[in-house]
Amino acid sequence: MNLAKDAATRAYAPYSKFLVGAALETDDGRIFTGCNVENASYGLGRCAEQTAIQKMVSEGGRKFTRIAVFTHSSPPSSPCGACRQVLYEFGPDARVMMGNDSAELIEYTVRGLLPGAFGPDNLEQA
Ligand code: THU
Repeated sequence: MNLAKDAATRAYAPYSKFLVGAALETDDGRIFTGCNVENASYGLGRCAEQTAIQKMVSEGGRKFTRIAVFTHSSPPSSPCGACRQVLYEFGPDARVMMGNDSAELIEYTVRGLLPGAFGPDNLEQA
C-alpha cells in the first residue's frame, strides 16, 4: 500500500484531480506500480490498475497474486468495472486491497469483485 501511495503522487489527473496509485506483486515476486494517466481527449485516460498491469505484461509478467490500490477517498475506492475485467485476465484469484490516508483497508479477491466473469476459459470452450 505504501508503494501504491507513492505511485499516486505520480498520477497525471489534471481533469478529474482524482489521484490513484496501484502496486501489484507477480507470482515470481516482482512488483509493478502504476498511476492513472488522463488525457485532454478524456476517453483516452488510463486507470492506475491498468497502467500497472500493462507494465507487468510488457516486462514479461503473466500472473499477479495481489494488488494494492490507493486513493485519497473515504471509504477507499475500488477498481472500476473495466479494471476488474483487466485484472481478472492475469489474476482471477488475486487479493485486492484498497486503502487511503486514514488507514481504512478493504479487501476482496478479483473473482469476488467480478462474479460470473468472462475470461480466457470461456474462449477455450468455443
Ligand atoms: N481511476 C482509476 O485510476 N482506477 C479506478 O479503478 C477508478 C478510476 C481513475 C480514472 C480517472 O483518471 C480518475 O480515476 C477519475 O475517474
